[in-house]
Amino acid sequence: MTADALDAIEFRPADLGEILELREDELIRGTGREREFPGDRDPTTRHFGAFRQGTCVGCLSAMLSEWEGAPAWQVRGMAVAADWRGRGVGARLLARAEALLVEERAGPGGTRVRLLWCNARRPAVGFYEKQGWRVVSGPFEIPSVGPHVRMVKGIGEAEV
Ligand SMILES: CC(C)(COP(=O)(O)OP(=O)(O)OC[C@H]1O[C@@H](n2cnc3c(N)ncnc32)[C@H](O)[C@@H]1OP(=O)(O)O)[C@@H](O)C(=O)NCCC(=O)NCCS
Repeated sequence: MTADALDAIEFRPADLGEILELREDELIRGTGREREFPGDRDPTTRHFGAFRQGTCVGCLSAMLSEWEGAPAWQVRGMAVAADWRGRGVGARLLARAEALLVEERAGPGGTRVRLLWCNARRPAVGFYEKQGWRVVSGPFEIPSVGPHVRMVKGIGEAEV
C-alpha cells in the first residue's frame, strides 16, 4: 500500500454506531458475546475509527479506568478489517487515538491521563509491542475469545 492510499483514510473520533459493525465482524461474531461493551455509552468513553470513503476499516474504544490506583484508559475493541490488515492502518489509528487521548483532561480534577492498558489477544501482542506497549501479566484465558495478556503503555511524558 502506498503512503497516498493510507493518506486517503481518515483517522478520527467516531460515534459508537459508526464502529459497531466492524467490531462485530472482526471481534465478536462466533463468540456469543454482545457487540456492545459495558461502558460503551458512558460520557467519558471515546471511540475512534479509520474510514475509507465513509466505510469503517479500523476501530478502537478507550474507556476511562484505573491502573494500580491511577487513572488510565483501557483500550478495547481494537480491530482492522481483515482485507486492510498489515498496511499500517492499525498503527496509525492507535497513534491518532493516543494523540487525542493525551490531550484530554479526563482524570480527577481535570488532569491528563498518562497510561493506557489493554487485555491483548495473544496473536496481537507483537502488534502492540511495535507500538511501544509492554506485557505486564502472564497469559490468561477469556472464555470464548482465547488467550490474552495484559499490556500497558505510558503516554504523554509518562514512562512505565
Ligand atoms: C492487531 C491488528 C489491529 C493490527 O492492525 P494492522 O492494521 O494489521 O497493523 P499494522 O499494519 O498497522 O501493523 C503495524 C506494525 O505491527 C506489525 N504487526 C501487525 N500485526 C502484528 C501481529 N499480529 N504480530 C506482530 N506484529 C504485527 C506490522 O508488521 C507492522 O510492523 P512495522 O511497523 O515494522 O511495519 C489487526 O491485525 C487486527 O484487527 N487483528 C484481529 C483483531 C485483533 O486481534 N485485535 C486486537 C484485539 S486485542
